[in-house]
Amino acid sequence: MRQTLAFDVYGTLIDTQGIAATLEGWIGERAPVLARAWREKQLEYTFRRGLMGAYADFDACTEQAFQYCCEALGIVLESEQKAELLRRYRELPAFADAGPALDGLRADGHRLFAFSNGTAETVSGLLRNAGLEDRFEDLVSVDEIGCFKPDPRVYRHFLQRANVLPQQAWLVSGNAFDVIGAQAAGINTAWLDRAGEGLFDPWGGKPTATIGGLDELAGALH
Ligand code: 2OP
Repeated sequence: MRQTLAFDVYGTLIDTQGIAATLEGWIGERAPVLARAWREKQLEYTFRRGLMGAYADFDACTEQAFQYCCEALGIVLESEQKAELLRRYRELPAFADAGPALDGLRADGHRLFAFSNGTAETVSGLLRNAGLEDRFEDLVSVDEIGCFKPDPRVYRHFLQRANVLPQQAWLVSGNAFDVIGAQAAGINTAWLDRAGEGLFDPWGGKPTATIGGLDELAGALH
């Protein structure tokens, strides 16, 4: 049956750890540590801003998280290097399985949407650079309503934008907090557990499906 699929972007289609390759030339073995801390702090800022009702867009959260992590880890970079990193954050690589999986799902007749905390401008640039942009019917950004995942309003907003009922929609995400948020809105969920660790928040529910790679998604929808 034809389904409406909402793909999370950062951490699902796009590899946020890809920034470590740029960092490596500058700070050596500390690159993956900074890349991970940066991602965690970026998400923490979205959660905190959500709780405070003090929205600033995802680019601002990304930049402020970067500043904080450099200071916390004692990493000193030139201002040109910082600017270059933030530019490259807009050109992060796609996971290798993303393009082929999206092509297959489109050929199966499913409706594909990118659904992200990122702004429409940044995410469309990111997807364009990764060669994925033309796979989607549309891009839905939380920026349209000024709040972040997993606020229930963002999932309702997606359903409204895609004009679909929750039971006919799927969220596909590598971020467990996103999966749990979508489930609370009645949406089917495919949790992408790339690490294969099965480490899911013990909040009582389980994803509709768990997949180890995007190539397993088509099978999980049946
Ligand atoms: C996204 O919305 C949560 O980072 C994730 O793309």
